[in-house]
Amino acid sequence: MFQKDILKDKVIIVTGGGTGLGKSMATKFSELGAKVLICSRKIEVLEKTANEITQITSNEVIPYQLDVRHAEAVEELIAFCDKKFGKIDILLNNAAGNFISPTERLSYKAFDTVVDIVLRGTYYLTLAIGKYWIEKKVPGNILSIVTTYASTGSGYVVPSSISKAGVLNLTRSLAAEWGKYNIRLNAIAPGPFPTKGAWERLFPDPKMAAKLIQRIPLKRTGEHEELANLATYMASDFSGYMTGEVITIDGGEWLAGAGEFNFLEAVKPEEWDFIAKTMKR
Ligand code: HXC
Ligand code: NAP
Repeated sequence: MFQKDILKDKVIIVTGGGTGLGKSMATKFSELGAKVLICSRKIEVLEKTANEITQITSNEVIPYQLDVRHAEAVEELIAFCDKKFGKIDILLNNAAGNFISPTERLSYKAFDTVVDIVLRGTYYLTLAIGKYWIEKKVPGNILSIVTTYASTGSGYVVPSSISKAGVLNLTRSLAAEWGKYNIRLNAIAPGPFPTKGAWERLFPDPKMAAKLIQRIPLKRTGEHEELANLATYMASDFSGYMTGEVITIDGGEWLAGAGEFNFLEAVKPEEWDFIAKTMKR
């Protein structure tokens, strides 16, 4: 889909890049010529992923241990990256924590844990890199992975939902404030894309995953490649006039859940014949 050198020599930080969607996007960026740094808590996982990606792309990928909940550690990452590459072009805020639970069952600590990773972690990275770009007087590009429920809200994942809403609002707010520095901020709102991390915590019973597919108009979950292609476009200079935007990629799932009459999907053709006859009469 892309010219082979579309991201050539771009330095990209991918938080949570050792697993799941972060790994898939990091792989795509590296394939297209980027210098990618992947960071998260588990260094062994990052090292394995970095090696795997390099085997595929022949480009160097740097594994870096980071807990996004610690502001000082985030600043050290920016300093490390600057020393190593002399610049940073793109930040992909992808790290997250989540699990399903009735909200009244959550301890304060459980609530804090998710909010600290998803919201606090994202604004630490965003602020640290924004200050870096502003001081250096260079352009910047931040892409954050939210969810469709960042806009709609959702029960049973409330700490994640309010945090993703915060990340989306941060994206829009800073797009307005930092446009003058030539810093762009956008978000992607994926629907369900199977990953071990999300499926273990959100769809622990296979029956839940089967039901999920039924309510998606395209009757399937997303392919990692489809998300990675969109992320590449947003990370690249081809999206240069886009800022403050969120793009949904969910097979139509959230609209199907929202539209007043979409429940009529369950009506069979012979029932429609009967309804039509009755109404015309
Ligand atoms: C209730 C839970 C819980 C659960 C943890 N806690 N899991 N409470 N139900 N399932 C509580 C603990 O009891 C504890 O509170 C507090 O949360 C902290 O737990 P720790 O295990 O000490 O936290 P930590 O080791 O920091 O791990 C963070 C985590 C974990 C979020 C809990 O799941 C994680 O590491 N997640 C990272 C990967 C991830 O979540 N990926 C999925 C992203 S998917 P107490 O009070 O007992 O001490 C996603 C997709 C959305 O976001 C959309 C899909 C369509
Ligand atoms: P995943 O594989 O579990 O990815 C989450 C990543 O975040 C892991 O690599 C994890 O690595 C990292 N992480 C967690 N806590 C961290 C911390 N404190 N500091 C640094 N890194 C941390 O799940 P995924 O499905 O690929 O999710 C990736 C992103 O897509 C998330 O933002 C998620 O909300 C979003 N999303 C996913 C779906 C889906 O269907 N899969 C749908 C909508 C949105 P460590 O454990 O090594 O720290």
